[in-house]
Amino acid sequence: MSDPRYRIAPSLLSADFARLGEEVHDVIAAGADWLHFDVMDNHYVPNLTIGPMVCQAIRPLTAATIDVHLMVEPVDALVPMFAKAGANIISFHPEASRHVDRTLQLIREQGCQAGLVFNPATPLDWLDHVMDKLDLVMLMSVNPGFGGQSFIPSTLPKLRQARARLDAYERDSGRRILLEIDGGVKVDNIAEIARAGADTFVAGSAIFGAANTADANRYDSVIKAMREALL
Ligand code: DX5
Ligand code: ZN
Repeated sequence: MSDPRYRIAPSLLSADFARLGEEVHDVIAAGADWLHFDVMDNHYVPNLTIGPMVCQAIRPLTAATIDVHLMVEPVDALVPMFAKAGANIISFHPEASRHVDRTLQLIREQGCQAGLVFNPATPLDWLDHVMDKLDLVMLMSVNPGFGGQSFIPSTLPKLRQARARLDAYERDSGRRILLEIDGGVKVDNIAEIARAGADTFVAGSAIFGAANTADANRYDSVIKAMREALL
């Protein structure tokens, strides 16, 4: 039984795209809570990945939450497409939307949960007027665009600040907003990241880059080690 305080969200960005269905199956069988789905447009970020058609293709394979991370500009046109493709959560970067409040409303109108993503240098001020429209806050601990980068240490104090804001909001409103961390999360830093306040952990290369072992499922041991570090 996994600890309900924490969620582990493997990033499909580091999966083997030639065997994507199997990868989804294996990582869920290994105990992943969510699937993190990185959408890059070669405009907001210098890389190009996957879109709603791929989301739709994997949707029937699992009941797990599909956590769509939009690194695209503009944002709004893709929201209904991902909602229709079966996304559960849709997050975007505030700099990439002309009207942040409108985009957050649109995501919820489409039946999804809404998240705002903060780049390493993006101030948390963007939270000021939209807390009631948020289900999730995600802090980037790398600059968006690529898997396999190193965790930027200044994210830890920023996580503590975000945690304090979300806790204060929960005390006032009774509503809990999740705090997700994305980039450079490994078995050996996940505990420190959790202590700084994160409750949901994206991990791409740490999980999908795991070396083949004699185990039936090679993702088992990494996810288990992450959960043990979180105890
Ligand atoms: C980066 C993506 C991340 C990335 C994480 O732009 O948003 O989700 O896949 O990969 P790792 O865990 O390898 O840093
Ligand atoms: Zn991501």
